[in-house]
Amino acid sequence: MALPAGGSAGGGGLGGPAGESFDAVDVIIAKRDGQRLSGAMIDWVIDAYTRGVVAEEQMAALAMAIVLNGMDRAEIAAWTSAMVRTGQRLSFRNLAAPTVDKHSTGGVGDKITLPLGPLVASYGVAVPQLSGRGLGHTGGTLDKLESVAGWRAALSTQEMMDQLAAVGAVVCQAGSGLAPADRKLYALRDVTGTVESIPLIASSIMSKKIAEGTAALVLDVKCGSGAFMKDQARAAELARTMVALGHDAAVDTVALVTDMSTPLGLTVGNALEVREALEVLAGGGPPDVVELTCALAREMLAAAARQVAAAPGQAARVEAGRLLEADPLESLANGRAMDKWRAMVAAQGGDPDAPLPVAREAQTVLAPRGGRLTRLDALAVGVAAWRLGAGRSRKEDPVQAGAGIELHAKPGDLVAPGQPLMTLWTDTPERFARALEALEGAFAVEPAGDNPPVENSPGSGPGVGPQPDYRYLGPEGKALESCPPRAIVLERISLEGDRP
Ligand code: URA
Repeated sequence: MALPAGGSAGGGGLGGPAGESFDAVDVIIAKRDGQRLSGAMIDWVIDAYTRGVVAEEQMAALAMAIVLNGMDRAEIAAWTSAMVRTGQRLSFRNLAAPTVDKHSTGGVGDKITLPLGPLVASYGVAVPQLSGRGLGHTGGTLDKLESVAGWRAALSTQEMMDQLAAVGAVVCQAGSGLAPADRKLYALRDVTGTVESIPLIASSIMSKKIAEGTAALVLDVKCGSGAFMKDQARAAELARTMVALGHDAAVDTVALVTDMSTPLGLTVGNALEVREALEVLAGGGPPDVVELTCALAREMLAAAARQVAAAPGQAARVEAGRLLEADPLESLANGRAMDKWRAMVAAQGGDPDAPLPVAREAQTVLAPRGGRLTRLDALAVGVAAWRLGAGRSRKEDPVQAGAGIELHAKPGDLVAPGQPLMTLWTDTPERFARALEALEGAFAVEPAGDNPPVENSPGSGPGVGPQPDYRYLGPEGKALESCPPRAIVLERISLEGDRP
């Protein structure tokens, strides 16, 4: 039952404060008792919270009621658009190029944004990526890019627009004017145990993306130990919710559900991940990073093609065909994506030729026995990298650019007894002990002869699209014997009929 404007759910409402349409206590009680909130109620509570009329403790109680009782599709859509309306809404309509953004729900070793933006921009698509900093065990794109000497995250809206027009790719800090209600609410959820809720996560992410003004969005929804969503079914539900919200707001939205049970690539930590992104841009890099970058690039190019194809005329049809047929691997191999990276970094004050910071101290973790590495837990590696100084506990904490973990083997690889499994890096060696604690029980090496199952994917399905042959290079550049290919992209979620 939805409550009418000004209605009372009973049981404690005091009547709205003077000039206000509702009372926060009524809204909390309604959700606590499992009722639907009306659009008017949601509009009011989000606006009143932003104005400070709804107190932090009242919003915390409402968020917890939503965690426990959920919201239906109409409520989530109303909640999202109410948050968008609390701030400014950008528009890229004046740009000559189609615009497509990508958002990842966050993972360990997830440096995909770094090669992906320049790669897609190298095909003439504008890629505005408003990113965040890391908090907890997941890294933040801005922290990674700040390990490039001179690079600047804070751009004015005009600077961002100018860079998009001139270079085609920009990664910068989201301005405080975009969905300010979400900024306030996310900080509150972080300290009240109310982050893990599909309606709240979906509305938080999508309110910022809708306010940003991109015409199309490709979502990378992670699942597995290193992600918010531990299993594939929940990740797919989050993906479907965000895809629907995008379409309701006229943002062409597609999602890939991808594996985050083990770290992506071979590096976790800011400068280490930039180094790996540069390897990908130079036509190399670990196969899982290349595969996911290209899978997301193909979706972004297809979304750009749909925008272009909406215009009348033969030229638009030809251009849409070019975007659809583009092979992202080509731009990685021929240096065009790298040229875009260099232009993007330089436009934001960075020196693409400056050496990346390296941490002062290293410690190696060795394989306790020979056999096959069957498990390498993403969450444990993320927490260890965080404890080494790659991440922060509070928003205002600094991060160490060189801190993090280099992996020398991935699940499926054969390892010899005493072979290095990973190297831990930090400027502050007193951090090693706590990082090593986090890694206790994080990996398993099983006798190779038994052909043990490899726990590297939360989904048992075959995955989506062509799967790479995973062959990681060992410490001496020698190919390690590897298990059969494993799936990175587990599921593709879109509304019917979105393929051009
Ligand atoms: N990222 C967001 O922006 N919001 C959430 O709620 C979770 C992840």
